[in-house]
Amino acid sequence: MVEMYRGRKIASYTRMDEGTKEDYDLLYEQAAPFKAKTADRVLEQLKALHHTFPGMKVDRYEHSLQTAQRAYDAGECEEIVVAALLHDIGDSMAPDNHGSMAAEMIKPYVSKNVHWMIKHHQIFQGYYFWDKVGKDPNTRDQFRDHPAFEMSERFCGEYDQTAFDPEYPTAAIEFFEPMVHRFYAREPWGAHSESEWPLDSTPANQKAAAE
Ligand SMILES: [Fe+2]
Ligand SMILES: [Fe+2]
Repeated sequence: MVEMYRGRKIASYTRMDEGTKEDYDLLYEQAAPFKAKTADRVLEQLKALHHTFPGMKVDRYEHSLQTAQRAYDAGECEEIVVAALLHDIGDSMAPDNHGSMAAEMIKPYVSKNVHWMIKHHQIFQGYYFWDKVGKDPNTRDQFRDHPAFEMSERFCGEYDQTAFDPEYPTAAIEFFEPMVHRFYAREPWGAHSESEWPLDSTPANQKAAAE
């Protein structure tokens, strides 16, 4: 049952199984404007990467921008550019499984293969340095037959493992923000997430060429 509490309408139940349809209608109504701000919260959270993994010439936030920039420069579609921007976002809370965390975050909005690529990117990234830290750099080989193998190899080889260069010309976050807003404006669990590959009709570079 809906009631007033501290000057605002709330659902009155204290356990979910006692909520009425009226309660849940109210909650869904109030969730809509909250969910509409997801892109803003994600962009805010991205900034937490400034404070993770010290010791490199660029910090993780700068690395994220540069990974996205490199994907953009290579002509990847907007879905991959945004995935590149967010691929390390889990580093602030789940450093050892940040790929899985980032992949779950974006899953309702991306194709199955982009989700897979972000989820497994730590293993593909390992190809470039695991031999120096006592791990098998060829761990990725178990996925040779996966349809996203080639895309994941390109993502890590050309955009991610190279994105620690302070000299690489990289746009400020403002350049990527509209892309992140378009990304989160997608219907969650809609056609994009049901597709094997990105459905983007606005590849980043096509847009740039049109401007
Ligand atoms: Fe990563
Ligand atoms: Fe990365």
